[in-house]
Amino acid sequence: MHLDYHWLTLFSTGLSAICLVACAMPTTSSAAGGQIGKKPFGKLPDGTAVDLYTLVNRHGMEVKISNYGGIVVSISVPDKNGQFADVTLGYDNLEGYLKETPYFGALVGRYGNRIANAKFALNGREYKLAANNGLNSLHGGLKGFDKVIWEGKSLATAEGPALELTYVSKDGEEGFPGKLSVTTVYTLTDDNGLKIEYTATTDKDTVVNLTHHSYFNLAGKGDVLNHEVMINADKFTPTDKNLIPTGELRPVKGTPFDFRKPTAIGARINQDDVQLKTAGGYDQNWVIDKSAGKLGLMARVHESTTGRVLEVLSTEPGMQFYTGNFLNGKITGKGGWVYTARSAFCMEPQHYPDSPNHPEFPSVVLKPGQEYHNTIIYRFSVKK
Ligand code: GLA
Repeated sequence: MHLDYHWLTLFSTGLSAICLVACAMPTTSSAAGGQIGKKPFGKLPDGTAVDLYTLVNRHGMEVKISNYGGIVVSISVPDKNGQFADVTLGYDNLEGYLKETPYFGALVGRYGNRIANAKFALNGREYKLAANNGLNSLHGGLKGFDKVIWEGKSLATAEGPALELTYVSKDGEEGFPGKLSVTTVYTLTDDNGLKIEYTATTDKDTVVNLTHHSYFNLAGKGDVLNHEVMINADKFTPTDKNLIPTGELRPVKGTPFDFRKPTAIGARINQDDVQLKTAGGYDQNWVIDKSAGKLGLMARVHESTTGRVLEVLSTEPGMQFYTGNFLNGKITGKGGWVYTARSAFCMEPQHYPDSPNHPEFPSVVLKPGQEYHNTIIYRFSVKK
C-alpha cells in the first residue's frame, strides 16, 4: 500500500506520540496537543518532489508549510464566532508559487529587504550581488532562500507540532561570502502562535538578515484599510526614492508613521507625504522600542468585523510594514481572488534594510564561531 499522507499525533498526557497511519517519522513525547502531517505538493520543473506539511493544534488552528522556499502556504484561524478562515495571500498550488510570487509566505534570506546597488564591503573587500530590484539586491537575490528546497523534518515538541527545515547556502551563493548553514523551526503553539526560530552558522565572515513574508488579511477577503495597527516604535527609517534608508532615524511623532496608538491602515495612507508617495503606501522599517535581542511585542493588528487579532513578536530590532503596494491586480491567487494594493499587509521583523552599507545601524555581520538567532512569533486571538 502506498501511503503518501501520514500524521504524527501528539498527546497532551505526555505519552509518546504515535503515528496513526504507518509513517517513518520519529516519535517524541509532548506536553501539547496537535498533529503534523506531510503530503506531496507537486514537482519542480527538474522533477524534484516538493512536500506540504500541515500543522494543526488542539484548537483547530492549521498552518500549511512547504519545504520549497519554506513557504507558509496558509494560516487558518478562528474569528470571534469560531469561524475559521485562511488569513494569508498565496496560491492554491505549487505551480502558482513557481510561476510568479511577490514573496507570498516566504522564508526570506540570506538578506531580507534591500542592499543598495547590490554591493557591500566587508573586511575591506567588496562583494557584488545580483541586482534583482532596479539597481538593488532584494530579499536574497535571484534565487533567495524562498526559492530553494529545504530539508524537512517533523518534530513533536513540548510546545506543539513543529517543522524543522535545514538548508546549506554555498560560499558565494548569490554573491554572499561564506557557507551558511541555516535551520528554521516553525512551531504551532498552543496559544495559536506560529513561532519561527532561525539559527545559522558560517565558515567565513558574512551578512545575515532572515525574515518572514506572509501577506495577512485578517478578514480573509477585501482590503486591509480598516485593520487597526499598533506598532511599538517611536522612530522609523525614511528612505530615498529607491526605498533605501537614508540613515536617518526619524521620530514618528506628527507623521502618518505614528502607530503608537492603534490606527486604521487607511486613515492616513493617502496623505500627501513624500515617504508614502515614494513607496505607494507603507513600505518602511520601524525601529522597534525594545531591548536588542530580547523577544518583545512589535505590533498588534485588529480587524473589527471578524474580531481577529494578530500580534507580532520578535527578537529583531526592526520591522518592515508593507501594505502590498506592488500588488496591481495582475496576480490571481487563492480561490480566484485578484490581489490589488491593500489586499494585505506584511510585517517582517528584521534588521534594518541596507544595514551592510550603514555602519551606524545594528550589525548584520556573522562570523565563524558565532550563532545567528532570530525568533518571530505571529500570535492570533480574537477581541469580541
Ligand atoms: C518587502 C519590500 C517591498 C516589496 C516586498 C515584495 O516588503 O519592503 O518593497 O519589495 O517586499 O514585493
